Amino acid sequence: MTERLVIEHLYKIFSDRPEPALAMLRAGKCRADVLEKLRHVVGLDDVSLSVPSGAIYMIMGLSGSGKSTLARCINRLHEPSAGRILLDGEDLCALGDKELREVRRNRISMVFQHFALLPNRRVIENVEFGLKLRRMPAAQRRRRAEEVLAVVGLSKWAYHMPHELSGGMRQRVGLARALATEADILIMDEAFSALDPLIRTEMQEELLRLQRTLNKTILFITHDFQEALKLGTRIAIMSEGHVVREGSPQSIVLDPGSDYVAAFTREVDRARLFDARSVMTALSPVWRDSGRILMAASPLGQGPGFVLDAEERVLGVLTGSEMAQARDGRAIPEPDRRFACVSASMRLVDVAHQCGQGSPVGVTDTDGKLIGLLDASQVLARIGAGSGAEVHHA
Ligand SMILES: Nc1ncnc2c1ncn2[C@@H]1O[C@H](COP(=O)(O)OP(=O)(O)O)[C@@H](O)[C@H]1O
Ligand SMILES: [Mg+2]
Repeated sequence: MTERLVIEHLYKIFSDRPEPALAMLRAGKCRADVLEKLRHVVGLDDVSLSVPSGAIYMIMGLSGSGKSTLARCINRLHEPSAGRILLDGEDLCALGDKELREVRRNRISMVFQHFALLPNRRVIENVEFGLKLRRMPAAQRRRRAEEVLAVVGLSKWAYHMPHELSGGMRQRVGLARALATEADILIMDEAFSALDPLIRTEMQEELLRLQRTLNKTILFITHDFQEALKLGTRIAIMSEGHVVREGSPQSIVLDPGSDYVAAFTREVDRARLFDARSVMTALSPVWRDSGRILMAASPLGQGPGFVLDAEERVLGVLTGSEMAQARDGRAIPEPDRRFACVSASMRLVDVAHQCGQGSPVGVTDTDGKLIGLLDASQVLARIGAGSGAEVHHA
């Protein structure tokens, strides 16, 4: 996967003279030390991260942790104090005013928590606004605005006034406005945080649905860990201006790495987060002839195995002792057809009942090839993990 946006050792000190504060931070002092000694606020303290193309990359942290500062540094609404911001390999910090305007208009769009919709302009004119600034001809921008309003499901409302729309619909207008520019990097700063829970859930689903077809690169900022898990392909967790943990949603919940991060993970519904791949035992081919393939967790002879045909479709399963026979070169017994298969991306909440049947459960990749074996006790342990910790912390 290619990296669209790479941030390297980014610092932001809210001061005209950031050098002494930078020196303190680089010498290992923290934000509080700088505030006490120099009276300078540290917004970002050595932030590095890289956002792959097509990701929904979540920046998550409590209020005041530096999330908005990061967003504003990326399109230089704030001037970074040190570090580099590489967009497709080009350092945004080195751009002149003209190039910077071009980046803001055509390459990076921002969506904020509270949209400033122009109250006396129709919905469609609000969507067109950015295109007008770019001097796109009227007919062309009207067409473009109609297209994106259809994408966010607001075609019927195009000629209404903003005050006639609900909060959720106004948020969709903001999204439409960002999409209209064709910038393929979206920065969404708490874009859904002000919405009622039901509408918020609806917008989250909408964003996931849109992303499947639009395939933008999205940097999404939130203080809500559940939202980060739901939307994120990766999550960076911030505290006091720096990134304290970065990874996939599953890896962060599995291994928070600090009490600060662990506190967010306590309420997580693990059965809906973790997938079959995360608990399976990997299988590999241990024997094959022209007609059949045997798959097992190596070493051969321990635990059950699967018999596949030459097209790698599962024919059936063998017990551990039957596998041992096969290893000893005796004829492969007829495989037992009582087995089930689930896909690697299936959530544990959906595989749990398969594991309760007593037959071996195989795990297949997107091509339908067998890659692993699910063990009921491991599935249960993963679903239950964390609930014990809750009792201790209560
Ligand atoms: N323009 C500014 N001048 C001085 N301090 C600021 C400014 N903007 C933000 N800060 C401070 O920087 C820190 C991070 O703020 P912010 O990035 O807005 O956090 P978040 O978005 O995570 O809530 C806070 O302590 C905040 O008070
Ligand atoms: Mg903020």
